[in-house]
Amino acid sequence: MTTFLVTGGAGFIGANYIHYMFRTYGDDIRIINADALTYAGNPENLKEIETRDNYTFVKADITDKEAVSRIFAENDIDTVVHFAAESHVDRSITDPEVFVRTNVLGTATLLNAARAAWEKEDGTYPEGKKFLHVSTDEVYGSLPEGEGYFYEDTPYAPRSPYSASKAGSDLLVRAYMETYGFPANITNCSNNYGPYQFPEKLIPLMIHNALEGKKLPVYGDGKNVRDWLYVEDHARAIDMVIKKGRLFETYNVGGHNEKQNIEIVKTIIDILKEELPEDDQRRAHLTYDLITYVEDRKGHDRRYAIAPDKIRKEVGWEPETMFAEGIRKTIRWYFEHEEWMAHVTSGAYQQYYESMYHV
Ligand code: NAD
Ligand code: TYD
Repeated sequence: MTTFLVTGGAGFIGANYIHYMFRTYGDDIRIINADALTYAGNPENLKEIETRDNYTFVKADITDKEAVSRIFAENDIDTVVHFAAESHVDRSITDPEVFVRTNVLGTATLLNAARAAWEKEDGTYPEGKKFLHVSTDEVYGSLPEGEGYFYEDTPYAPRSPYSASKAGSDLLVRAYMETYGFPANITNCSNNYGPYQFPEKLIPLMIHNALEGKKLPVYGDGKNVRDWLYVEDHARAIDMVIKKGRLFETYNVGGHNEKQNIEIVKTIIDILKEELPEDDQRRAHLTYDLITYVEDRKGHDRRYAIAPDKIRKEVGWEPETMFAEGIRKTIRWYFEHEEWMAHVTSGAYQQYYESMYHV
């Protein structure tokens, strides 16, 4: 039985990954989820699986050496799947330090603990151990409109404190692979969307605001391009890279699904109108008039676009959920989970929203 240490499993992608793994492997795996439960970590995301015998939650900060070492000492970890990070670009612009702390120092702490637990006296590692570092396409910087893609050998050129801190963490993993022969893979994925995403990010924020009849704040001219991937496809890519990826390699994950932000916002309004029952009062305010162009994000990256050729060829991964289907499923999920949304948007979220958007 493989024992996985998942970090940041109470966040958006981590929670989707844990659900995916139990759906796929049931009782044949064991998962330990280490998460500090920051504002972005929500135990409610995992309530359906929290009583499983083969699941353990540990509240731990990945920068806490003792806590992390204890997890390795008490469990025979085979695979680390490292999601834990500060992940929101806007927050990184107002408060960069916590990004350096968690994303860079936290990754170093985790790498050290894994190395101490796994490395044999002769400097080699037992067969089957792997550290999967989950990263982002944002480390490659910004592409011009309609031209070029990010490949695995595209030089790193991060432009926000978030992407710089993720680039720092990737480079540490690369350095461990080179220096110690540390068994790892890095995946650099494009923007994810789907259930359980915290509504500070574009898609859930727009769904939430539209349902409430609030303005839809589009940064700049709304023509920035992101390459969107349904979160379950990302979870499956990680699973496949763990099983089939060659050690020490990086794999870019994306599905050639580029969209301008304004297109996404209009699609959300259109689908909401189709999905809401005829007599639902919220239909009345669901028009493009809700769209409000606001001041642009500082240093706003223009375009991201992944070339997924390597993962397709070497690992056999392809996205399964096309955007038209994935966005509808996502919108329905937020509809059906109003209580989840109410919980995450109370308290701290309100304060964040007011200070970010000055309302
Ligand atoms: P998220 O912000 O939703 O979740 C992050 C999780 O990490 C939370 O549960 C939080 O409590 C936990 N965490 C934060 N700091 C911690 C610490 N010091 N110790 C332990 N736990 C801590 O993020 P997400 O969107 O799920 O992203 C997960 C990973 O995937 C990140 O590494 C991110 O860089 C990467 N990624 C995200 C996207 C995307 O579109 N969201 C795309 C590509 C890559
Ligand atoms: P976001 O979800 O924060 O992801 P990232 O910046 O990591 O790609 O933002 C996606 C795009 O949407 C990005 O170009 C910024 C834009 N955006 C808005 O226009 N308005 C908003 O309120 C937010 C949160 C994002």
